[in-house]
Amino acid sequence: MQNTGKSMQSVDESVKELLSGGGKDIPLFKVFMPESVMEPLRKVLMSGYIGEGPRVEEFERQLAPWFGNENVLALNNGTSALQLALRLANVDYGDEVISTAMTCSATNEPILAMGAKIVWADIDPWTGNIDPEDIAAKITPKTKAIMCVHWGGYPCDLGELNTIAAEHGLKVIEDACHAFGSTYHDKPIGSHSDFACFSFQAIKEMTTIDGGALVCKSKADRERGRLLRWYGIDRKSKRKDLRCEADIVEYGYKFHMNDVTAVIGLEQLKYVGKTIEKHKAHAAQYNKAFRDLKVVRPLRYKDDRSSAHWLYTIRVKDRDRFIQHMKDASIIASKVHARNDNHTMFKDFRTDLPGVDEFTSEQVSIPVGWWLTKKEVQHIIDTAVEYDRMMVKVFVDG
Ligand SMILES: Cc1ncc(COP(=O)(O)O)c(C=O)c1O
Repeated sequence: MQNTGKSMQSVDESVKELLSGGGKDIPLFKVFMPESVMEPLRKVLMSGYIGEGPRVEEFERQLAPWFGNENVLALNNGTSALQLALRLANVDYGDEVISTAMTCSATNEPILAMGAKIVWADIDPWTGNIDPEDIAAKITPKTKAIMCVHWGGYPCDLGELNTIAAEHGLKVIEDACHAFGSTYHDKPIGSHSDFACFSFQAIKEMTTIDGGALVCKSKADRERGRLLRWYGIDRKSKRKDLRCEADIVEYGYKFHMNDVTAVIGLEQLKYVGKTIEKHKAHAAQYNKAFRDLKVVRPLRYKDDRSSAHWLYTIRVKDRDRFIQHMKDASIIASKVHARNDNHTMFKDFRTDLPGVDEFTSEQVSIPVGWWLTKKEVQHIIDTAVEYDRMMVKVFVDG
């Protein structure tokens, strides 16, 4: 098991090669798992009750302040949260969902699973986030919902998105899988739109191994979602013979969280505030160090919102060379996600996306997480600045 703050020596030899750089380099991602999880985990495993129960409810209660919203549903992963949100938004066969191509394919595959069509809107090439103006231009009578992604944790233009949605009677679904702990206009992500979807998979700032949450604006959606996450059956109804008597009104899924993963989440919540502080502090150091560079350029963020910086993304000229330059200094850098619209499964929806072209040709993420030592942060800065000095002659002066 990988452990907090401990060196790579604590990593099982057999998994080393799965880690970035084979466990030798400064990783881009790292699993946060406190030793203190072991006791509550042992208790729940031996309790005789490991399904969805009181610990899931407690986890939902404790998540609510993080979202500024009580309408929380804990689920088995973020992809399920996205699919459940689409269902609650009544997205159906043949409907259109306006979405972004600059994300994990898990954002968009659930749209196909609903039988709906994707309409790509372009992005701001300096944030990676969907462009509200392009969304407005692409609304048709078939549009049902807008899907946005907070790239790396930096919140989208939620004010504009929700205004457009209200004008056209559309639902806004936030894929907030990068954005646990981010804020927009001083309010947490999770308190702004009809739906916000979170992921607690292995390498997120907080993990339940796999897990997710759907946060709904309306109590009614939360209540319908509570049934749909478990086959459409109300687990709370009083029945004489377990679940045999309950009528199922509409079909559901098996998307619920269980008490074992919830216990891990409850323990993680004790640490996640500090974890996010560290991500933000490292990002602030990078912003300062890279501010005036010409070849290695930070993204352009507004100060009416704050990113929890699951990622720290920059734009660089000759990205492949930059990634190799970092690797030569034992630092892992990566594109993290490839544009979705090039996948064969999305071929019917292709369109011109100049913002995506621009962003995707230069964007790359460097390590920013809680595991970095002061020395490592400085080493990352020095190595990126060195690349800038070297390449400025080619791209700017030359
Ligand atoms: C933007 C985005 N959306 C959705 C997901 C899917 O989340 P999960 O792996 O919990 O299903 C991820 C996972 O990393 C993601 O990065």
